Amino acid sequence: MVKPIRQTDGPDHVAIIMDGNGRWATQRGRPRLFGHHAGAKRVREVVEACPDLGVKYLTIFAFSTENWKRTQVEVAGLMSLFRRYITKETRALKAENVRVRFIGDRPRLDAKLRKLMDDLEEHTCHCDGVNLTIALNYGGRDEVARATQRLARDVRDGKLDPESIDEETLPRYLDTCVLPDPDLVIRTSGEARISNFLLWQSAYAEYEFVETLWPDFGAEEMTRLVHAYGKRDRRFGAVAQ
Ligand code: FPP
Repeated sequence: MVKPIRQTDGPDHVAIIMDGNGRWATQRGRPRLFGHHAGAKRVREVVEACPDLGVKYLTIFAFSTENWKRTQVEVAGLMSLFRRYITKETRALKAENVRVRFIGDRPRLDAKLRKLMDDLEEHTCHCDGVNLTIALNYGGRDEVARATQRLARDVRDGKLDPESIDEETLPRYLDTCVLPDPDLVIRTSGEARISNFLLWQSAYAEYEFVETLWPDFGAEEMTRLVHAYGKRDRRFGAVAQ
């Protein structure tokens, strides 16, 4: 067990691009979905590590607006995995006081999955431990476009003065409106790109790109990265004191 760091040193909000499930499975001569199932099992360990690390918000990228381009078998398998995950994990998440939210464009998801998502949000809405946000059918550009539609409607309806729009306005229309910006964004599997994840929100985030494939990622590596973050000098465009 690694010693918890002082909460003020650590990131409040960690966001993770869980990449490498397919390669992990291929390395073992198994179908890609085997990797996704192994990846889903790692989520609990990482969520459980958060309280000791002082991480109050954890946001994970489960399915992007671009992932529909994968084979029908993989997409259907992932959707079925999400349904099973929610059904199976609801009790444990609630018992661990985890508040779950989903971000992303819901209408394209099937009705059964949407209902499970709504129910999980409702069942955990009184939990005040870790805030787990699952990005499902999420794309940063899509989110900004949808937010802009809502904002434009408010302008049209006379609820918003165009001259009053500033940097504080758009975030109120984003899916993440109740969340703080991520402090630390982690991507597994050795790829160094952000793939349309939390584009607006990550403007000043620190990034960690690690070689580990997501199904091999766990509490120990999360702890190491959170500790490393505590040593960084975040300036938000200013000069170091
Ligand atoms: C990227 O790996 C991973 C995904 C597209 C799916 C992420 C889903 C999970 C980790 C499992 C389920 C999560 C929850 C919340 C139940 P990849 O397939 O792109 O891997 P590759 O780059 O090696 O092909």
